[in-house]
Amino acid sequence: MHEQAVTAGDQVARRNLHVFVCTTVGRHHCAGLGAERVLQRLRDEVERRDLHWVRTTRMGCNQQHHQGPVMIVYPDGVWYGRLDAGDVDEIIDEHLVGGRPVERLRIVPDGPWSSTTLT
Ligand code: FES
Repeated sequence: MHEQAVTAGDQVARRNLHVFVCTTVGRHHCAGLGAERVLQRLRDEVERRDLHWVRTTRMGCNQQHHQGPVMIVYPDGVWYGRLDAGDVDEIIDEHLVGGRPVERLRIVPDGPWSSTTLT
């Protein structure tokens, strides 16, 4: 029987990943900055490529829309920002499949980490 080689990337790719995209509405919020197109592209590609280990969920505001649209990948704790739909394929290829976060798109969330006033 022919055994298919399993690369490190393949092993990483089979981890369950949960991708949150902020789609909070408002001119200066993520939806007003194009987040719906980011989420739609992500969902279209996850479905088209049958990335069954990737779950996608809308999220509310994390007070980072000055760096929006914002995406968070768990369990990695990687935050992406200033995204447009054209960035999604690179995140899928490099991070969700390849296991390597896309450094050029990463952001560091600022402000009080423990805020209880998030909307
Ligand atoms: S609206 Fe997306 S972080 Fe605030």
